[in-house]
Amino acid sequence: MNDNLMNYFSYGMYLLSSKNCGCIINTACQITSDVNNLIITVSVNKNNYTNEIIKKTKKLALSILSQDTDLELIKTFGFKSGTDKFNNYNYETIDDCNVLTDNIIGYLTADVIDTIDCDTHDIFIAKVNKQKLVNEENPLTYKYYKEVLKGAVNKNAPTYNKLDTDKLEKKTTASGQEVWICTICGYVHEGSLPEDFICPRCGVERKYFVKK
Ligand SMILES: Cc1cc2nc3c(=O)[nH]c(=O)nc-3n(C[C@H](O)[C@H](O)[C@H](O)COP(=O)(O)O)c2cc1C
Repeated sequence: MNDNLMNYFSYGMYLLSSKNCGCIINTACQITSDVNNLIITVSVNKNNYTNEIIKKTKKLALSILSQDTDLELIKTFGFKSGTDKFNNYNYETIDDCNVLTDNIIGYLTADVIDTIDCDTHDIFIAKVNKQKLVNEENPLTYKYYKEVLKGAVNKNAPTYNKLDTDKLEKKTTASGQEVWICTICGYVHEGSLPEDFICPRCGVERKYFVKK
């Protein structure tokens, strides 16, 4: 299937969180307009720790990231997995969910009212409890993140484009050098890989690379 069309979908950039967990997503959507019954959806990979906790607690928070969000924050929440990601950031606990106090335009908290199993991802349908506008800055868009900040996309994101990596891999293999691929973001490294190598795109260690 030619998937180029998918590259033209537009998205925002969000931090989806729950109790002591959180991950970057670009797949949040407002479904209803009634302020007394605001419903949103998020698409979350079944391998994400945040998915497990949202399923357990049925609670989530969604923060809209601001355009000047530090890329380190996206590396932490978008490429690492687990409970300790909030350690280096200021946050509050709101409706049992961790919510960042900096780098956000605002947040909402919501209760999951239904879940749709979509192969690799679950769609959580959630009813909004609270919403708060914190800072009226420009929100970070997916396009800006990729094209201006040159940010990488995690393979767990629905929008991860394996074709881009495959093309780059073929081109690099043709050069006759050793080729190493980052299994998290698809970064292609040409030549031998030093022991202390850190992926320049997403920040993970050498153990996440495979040799082609
Ligand atoms: C730009 C970007 C967009 C992403 N979008 C999504 C998304 O929409 N849904 C999803 O499940 N994961 C998405 N991810 C991947 C998760 O953020 C990533 O798998 C994260 O490490 C999961 O953390 P956790 O296991 O602690 O929950 C995205 C990552 C990046 C960098």
